[in-house]
Amino acid sequence: MRLILLGPPGAGKGTQAQHIQEKYEIPTISTGEMLRQAAHDGSDLGLQAKQIMASGRLVSDDIIIKLVQERIQKKDCERGFLLDGFPRTVTQAIALTNSSIVIDYVIAMHAPDTIILERLSGRWIHAPSGRVYHEKTKPPVKRGVDDITGEPLVQRDDDKESTVRKRLEVYRVQTEPVIDYYKNLKGIIFVEIETTGTAQEISQQIDKIIGKVQWV
Ligand code: AP5
Repeated sequence: MRLILLGPPGAGKGTQAQHIQEKYEIPTISTGEMLRQAAHDGSDLGLQAKQIMASGRLVSDDIIIKLVQERIQKKDCERGFLLDGFPRTVTQAIALTNSSIVIDYVIAMHAPDTIILERLSGRWIHAPSGRVYHEKTKPPVKRGVDDITGEPLVQRDDDKESTVRKRLEVYRVQTEPVIDYYKNLKGIIFVEIETTGTAQEISQQIDKIIGKVQWV
């Protein structure tokens, strides 16, 4: 199964990616995670990306397309994969369609801005694994500490309210057209869902959509 999760920041893509990855045993390819890891490692790409991400803008299409195409060639993607945060522009979507990579499902997730701001202001992450928590709706067992490793949790630089507002603006201009692109693309199953319910309710909705897939 090859699946794309689309949606604004804070729609819950990373949260549902974690659910899908565990339940269906396919790897998540999160371009945001890949860029944050590169920034943490201090590579040239990472340092450039760090500044761009902190401003709420998008990293250039060329860099992202290359990163994703290389990642999908790895052996763990043979049974399928989940794309979280890619494609984010119509140029990226067209590049994916024009490659030999076939996508089965596109799920577009929606949430109102008020909910997005609430979710992102309370988000904490375990940076090495990308595990996501929320101080109200999904607190860790011990405050400030990852449940699995016991390592400290951090807040993302781009979760400041002013940066989130910029990311939403960028989403509307550059990423929303990707939804229309997939709505009109033949040969894939395209579904839109509201993500105002609990994370568990959204997971159940997603299971209904993809649970019947025949594995390749
Ligand atoms: P990226 O890391 O992809 O961030 P994003 O798309 O902005 O999405 P987020 O991770 O903020 O939100 P999410 O939808 O995953 O929400 P989550 O599940 O964590 O990208 C970051 C940056 O990298 C971009 O701005 C750009 O600069 C660059 N970049 C990345 N990909 C790129 C590309 N393809 N091209 C160019 N540049 C690129 O949930 C949020 C919070 O809400 C959590 O605390 C969670 O616990 C909570 N929550 C989730 N679901 C629910 C629920 N149903 N109810 C209650 N709480 C919930």
